[in-house]
Amino acid sequence: MTEKNILAPFKKIRVKASLFVLLLLVSTTLAFSLIALRIMNRRILNEVIKRAETLCRGTASMAGYPLISQDLLGLDNIVYRIKGSSPDIVYMAIVNPGGEILVHSDTKRTGEPFRPAAGEFLQKAEDGTTVSEIPGPVRGLIEVRSPIAFLEKPLGSVVLAVNKSILVEAQKEARDKILLVFGLLLLVGVASSVLLSSFLTKPVRELSAGVAELKDGKRRRPLHVYSQDELGRLTESFNDMTALITTQRDSLSRYAQDLEEAYVSTVRVLAAAIDARDTYTLGHSTRVALLSLDLGRDLGLDPARLEELEIACLFHDVGKIKIPDSILLKKDKLDTPEQREMMRHTEYGAEILSKARSLLKYIPAVRHHHEWYDGTGYPDGLNGQKIPLDAAIISLADMYDAMTSDRPYREALSDEETQAEIAGLAGKQFDPELAARFVGLLKRKTADFVRRPGE
Ligand SMILES: [Fe+2]
Repeated sequence: MTEKNILAPFKKIRVKASLFVLLLLVSTTLAFSLIALRIMNRRILNEVIKRAETLCRGTASMAGYPLISQDLLGLDNIVYRIKGSSPDIVYMAIVNPGGEILVHSDTKRTGEPFRPAAGEFLQKAEDGTTVSEIPGPVRGLIEVRSPIAFLEKPLGSVVLAVNKSILVEAQKEARDKILLVFGLLLLVGVASSVLLSSFLTKPVRELSAGVAELKDGKRRRPLHVYSQDELGRLTESFNDMTALITTQRDSLSRYAQDLEEAYVSTVRVLAAAIDARDTYTLGHSTRVALLSLDLGRDLGLDPARLEELEIACLFHDVGKIKIPDSILLKKDKLDTPEQREMMRHTEYGAEILSKARSLLKYIPAVRHHHEWYDGTGYPDGLNGQKIPLDAAIISLADMYDAMTSDRPYREALSDEETQAEIAGLAGKQFDPELAARFVGLLKRKTADFVRRPGE
């Protein structure tokens, strides 16, 4: 498939409009989905922090008394119970003011100095509770530290870290829902954009088809007007314009036809007038036409071709209109310049016929009816099969009529003499196959005439 074919659908207004609406829809939905996801993430994170703060402050208030009484077992019990109540607590510790871990959910770390994990500080409450976010390889942690005080005397602090697994799961659930909504919106959007663009571009497509049909000369019925808006008014104007163009074109076509018919009639009259200029050639073209039609039928030409052949015969010597009487009607033998001028009647004929489009098809027969099979004829010296069939047929019929008509310089030849003459010129002046058929035809006609002499 070529690049032009691949791009062809994208050149349609309907496709362009659909793509535009779709792009707009996808980008809007995507932006809204991302914003919704961010807002939801922030809310869930706040919930996680709030819960961790509550747990941490609760533990700090419970740890005050055991710390004063140095009840490490009691502290241990508190840490154990709180951590056991929430599976998302990763670790929990109670640290004394000197930074030493008194109790840790990981008992091995008891007694170690407490080192705050490196993370991003998020907030600090009025009671001194701080919140940090510690990035992790998978989920990350939220670490909360609440001070333990008794009568405003600092006794230490509770450190509690929760993982953000709840956040991740909530995110996943929210993302699935958003993707589902996104998919549904997209589906509805695609269907709507296709329907909308189809509805909007229908009048444009109708107009486009109308213009194409008008260009090809096929448009006859007015276009359907779909609306009363700008496109509707444009369609109405197009219909008015089409009606005007069609009327004018029909008139022009009628005038052109009348003009051509008049020209054809004139040429027919001219052809008859040429024959009538010389008493010896009176009716010559008509006789050539009748004989040529006989040969054409013998060759199996169809009716349409026979009709063309008949008109070509009537026109074959029309060029003689330009030959002066001093040459055309000369009783004596023509000298060389006169002969040359006489020969030009084939070219003059072609020139006359070239003035009307409907007569162009007769030009080959008229121009070449004096070509010889061996290439020594005129005006172009065509030979063999290069000579058009109609021209070759006319050539035989023309010769026969000339030989069987009286001329000022000789008497008409008999049928037998003519047939012998034509047979003798086969392969020289005439196509041998065509000449043989023509002589056969003449013989049959003579035989018929002999059998039915009264006709
Ligand atoms: Fe001729």
